[in-house]
Amino acid sequence: MKVAVVGAGLVGATAAYALTLRGSCSDLVLVDRDEARAQAEAQDIAHAAPVSHGTRVSSGGYAALADARVVVVAAGANQQPGESRLDLLDKNAAIFRAVIPQIAHHAPQAVLLIATNPVDLLTDLAGRLAPGQSVLGSGTVLDSARFRHMIAQRANVDPRHVHGYVLGEHGDSEVLAWSTAAVAGLPVADFMAARGLEWTPELRGEIDTGTRDAAATIIQGKRATYYGIGAALARIAEAVLGDRRSVLTVSAPTPEYGVSLSLPRIVGAGGVEGTLLPTLTPQEAAALQESADVLQKRGERLKA
Ligand code: LAC
Repeated sequence: MKVAVVGAGLVGATAAYALTLRGSCSDLVLVDRDEARAQAEAQDIAHAAPVSHGTRVSSGGYAALADARVVVVAAGANQQPGESRLDLLDKNAAIFRAVIPQIAHHAPQAVLLIATNPVDLLTDLAGRLAPGQSVLGSGTVLDSARFRHMIAQRANVDPRHVHGYVLGEHGDSEVLAWSTAAVAGLPVADFMAARGLEWTPELRGEIDTGTRDAAATIIQGKRATYYGIGAALARIAEAVLGDRRSVLTVSAPTPEYGVSLSLPRIVGAGGVEGTLLPTLTPQEAAALQESADVLQKRGERLKA
């Protein structure tokens, strides 16, 4: 099956590299307004194919999107130090108004997977620009992975056996739903007690801060994030390509909140095939509503 990546910058190219190394698809095409960049990234990634899964990697114009099952949209600017994801809205919405109609025209059957920030509002905008097409955003899949990673570090276990969801905006108002967090099926505090490991409000606070500030911290050190989001995009694409029905906190229009935001969703061949409203504490539920309000308020600018 074919995956296209529109936007061959650090996030798009790393997602393409992740898809290649994981053997997620048979064909991969990179598209960017900077054709030389797209071609160079495709050539470089293609050299990994003979020593991985033999993916056919190429670059091209929008016409090369034909027959893609998934189109990853990573076109646009990324955060600079001190900039919030919401600060990117006007600039990247203008790019989307040019790019999404081209994608819809050349790949009307594809599932659009939005990565560009602010991903929740741009997922909404892409849905309006590609009516009737399946659109989802990477949302807080990366944040949930960061949350799980930080818990796993303190629990000294394989992060694949730690579960927990970050909900709402992929951004400053996101909600770490501690009530959903578990290690080997045990609430975190119970697991830590069972293993004789320290577990204090301070440690929990460190995880909260570390998850929320991860992107800003990395951007301070290396100007951008791309490995975590690249792998998250590959994982989401695989759920679509393989009709996996994976539960992932992707961003999608959520009538209960009037905006696209992240909740645990069942992702398969058709994109989002179901949404789960987790049982939250009153504090978590209030924080999720606040996150939706932040997105709704900022999203008003888009409808103007
Ligand atoms: C981050 C970017 C993808 O959180 O928003 O690293």
